[in-house]
Amino acid sequence: MALRGKRVLLIIGGGIAAYKALDLIRRLKERGAKVRAILTRGGTEFVTPLSVGALTEDTVYGELFNLTDEAAMGHIQLSRDADLIVVAPATADLMAKMAGGIANDLATTALLATDKPVLLAPSMNVRMWEHKATQRNLTMLQADGIHVVGPNEGDMACGEFGFGRMAEPLEIVAAVESIVQIPGPLAGTRALVTAGPTHEPLDPVRYLANRSSGKQGYAIAEALARLGAETTLVAGPTRLEDPLGLEILHVETAQQMLAACESALPADVAIFAAAVADWRADARANTKIKKSGTDAPALKLVQNPDILATIAGLDGTQRPKLVVGFAAETDNVIENATQKRTRKGCDWLVANDVSDGTGIMGGDENEVHLITASGAEHWPRTRKTDVAARLATMVATHLKGAAA
Ligand code: C5P
Repeated sequence: MALRGKRVLLIIGGGIAAYKALDLIRRLKERGAKVRAILTRGGTEFVTPLSVGALTEDTVYGELFNLTDEAAMGHIQLSRDADLIVVAPATADLMAKMAGGIANDLATTALLATDKPVLLAPSMNVRMWEHKATQRNLTMLQADGIHVVGPNEGDMACGEFGFGRMAEPLEIVAAVESIVQIPGPLAGTRALVTAGPTHEPLDPVRYLANRSSGKQGYAIAEALARLGAETTLVAGPTRLEDPLGLEILHVETAQQMLAACESALPADVAIFAAAVADWRADARANTKIKKSGTDAPALKLVQNPDILATIAGLDGTQRPKLVVGFAAETDNVIENATQKRTRKGCDWLVANDVSDGTGIMGGDENEVHLITASGAEHWPRTRKTDVAARLATMVATHLKGAAA
């Protein structure tokens, strides 16, 4: 609940992207924020006060001189009572009024009266966005300390293509969090996480790979970032979307993964959830290996660097304070994992059983044993996101204890 108790005043301007503001309200509330909305006159052409109010569970504010609303909540108080004002969609007209200090309705008056951070999510036709007047207004607003998220490039409702699509609700939420986030227990720490498989090329079209989906590693990186760690996720090829709020380095091979990890140091905690290929082809063919006769070609493999062992073996300040490995085992899970923890030189090892039928590799659930110097702890089967949250909380407790 990164936004627990934070009060967001959402101003919904008159643009087709106003429908996304409804989802934005839900997303903000999911994270614990209290959302109050002002719907501009233009906004009511796209979404109704009824839908906005049903989602905010509050009065929806509209016209400036609505006597009933003014009596209950003056426009000055409305802007003062928020920790942050979000304008989504921010139309060219709203941006122009803000840049000029015009206050001729409730939304613009609240924006002029506020002393709180303001975040704009612009949304308009690409020509309007690129127009010198809008760009001039944008420069002025940014110079005034107004935060801006988006717009993104893509197809527009008007049939054109270009910059002008409003940022997606989750991108706006990430921007809100970065402005008003309550410092989490990992604030001020740096985390490194590896995830996914690696692909080891044999020739331009073929590679060696494994079934890792990357879900567990991605969830861990997101959980650490949510607790405030400045997180770098080094990811092999996966089908997952880039998470928001952290740095992501995409790699393909084990050698690239090691180089990316080294570039992300120093870190306080490093968690190696990737299923790194143990071997790669001795030499990658520059052209496609041809089928010739009935003989299958012999593959000569060489060992890949062990990223976990390399980082866990660094000396002194170079080594992260806490190094966590993973072990995917199919038999004697605890015994093998306990030996692996010592062999790899890591502090903790998360072991899981990936035998056929468990559905763990590639699935959404995991059942793990956490091996530390003091023994093994069983975590019953649950969602990978829950395993990630539990691990991140343990990391926070451990780092706090180490710092004390
Ligand atoms: O030896 P094994 O592959 O079972 O060890 C698993 C652990 O080691 C995982 O944390 C994995 O990310 C890491 N590993 C690595 N580099 C390798 C092989 C495994 O970092 N080349």
